[in-house]
Amino acid sequence: MASLPPLQLAVLCLLLALSLLGPNHATQSTGAEPCNAVYWGQNRYEGGLREACATGYYKYVLVAFLNQFGGGQIPQMNLAGHCDPNSGGCTYLSGDIISCQQDYNVTVMLSLGGAIGSYGLASQEDAREVATYIYNSFLGGSSPNRPLGNAVLDGVDLAIQRGGPAHYDDLVRYLNASSTADKKVYLSAAPQCVFPDAHLQPAIDTGLLDYVWVQFYNNYCMYSSSNADTFKRTWNQWVSVKKSKVFLGLIASPNAGNGFVRPETLINNVLPIVKPSEKYGGIMIWNRYYDVITHFSAALKGHVCPDDLSFDSSMRIKQLTVI
Ligand SMILES: *[C@@H]1O[C@H](CO)[C@@H](O)[C@H](O)[C@H]1NC(C)=O
Ligand SMILES: *[C@@H]1O[C@H](CO)[C@@H](O)[C@H](O)[C@H]1NC(C)=O
Repeated sequence: MASLPPLQLAVLCLLLALSLLGPNHATQSTGAEPCNAVYWGQNRYEGGLREACATGYYKYVLVAFLNQFGGGQIPQMNLAGHCDPNSGGCTYLSGDIISCQQDYNVTVMLSLGGAIGSYGLASQEDAREVATYIYNSFLGGSSPNRPLGNAVLDGVDLAIQRGGPAHYDDLVRYLNASSTADKKVYLSAAPQCVFPDAHLQPAIDTGLLDYVWVQFYNNYCMYSSSNADTFKRTWNQWVSVKKSKVFLGLIASPNAGNGFVRPETLINNVLPIVKPSEKYGGIMIWNRYYDVITHFSAALKGHVCPDDLSFDSSMRIKQLTVI
């Protein structure tokens, strides 16, 4: 040992330090990609799509919502006051989408559903038709009427909160089948925290979703200091789902609903509960508008990703590497 050259000694110390941190922390993600998902599209005062991506806070941006589809209806999007997608007014967003994907490596997904609108799937055939519409209008297919222009989105998110769960599993299978070797179609869902979810469980149970962002707000399973046990029990149910990475869904402001958790509380009390799960992928934020106002993502930066080190662990690295 005493005759090791300094470089080898330094490497040895670093390996020792990393091994002390355990398997969840074997790699460090300093300066690496963010792990936040965010909903964009429901408030005109939240700024542009490209602007959201350029912050570097988000890995997934969910463009919300396609809120009319199924049952033979003409599919329609709602992007609040941003622009009118149904009269060709939002095709300029293609430039933003491509910039998000290429300049910031953000995964941009079309989100279906939401709290208002008219949607539901009447049959397996209806699911197939909606999947075909989505593929041609937003993904790799082609249509003379593409609401967001020619950009090819990375996938589809289900934020289904109305109607029954029927045939969303069929929809997921059809969308999954539209993945090609060149371009994977990412799939996700945003269930309420009550397990199983009344609208999305069959879709989630297909095991074909890449990401499940669980809404831990507006519900009895949301976190509070007096409700930590229920929160933890519910989280553990969600991380039992097949295949998908599971994200902690949060509101970015007390004005966004019930169950706002302050960033300090998240860092000290909540993230330590969820991060040890192998399935943990990051957080989902409702929504970009509130995040702009409260700087929620900024306050959490460096704490959210599975590999982000805690304060104590980084101190240990420092101590060992200066030997
Ligand atoms: C871009 O994102 C993909 C996953 O979406 C990831 O595998 C890749 O490493 C990222 N590239 C960079 C340069 O961070
Ligand atoms: C989902 O898509 C993948 C990749 O294209 C394919 O290999 C798999 O068979 C599909 N699964 C189902 C159930 O359709």
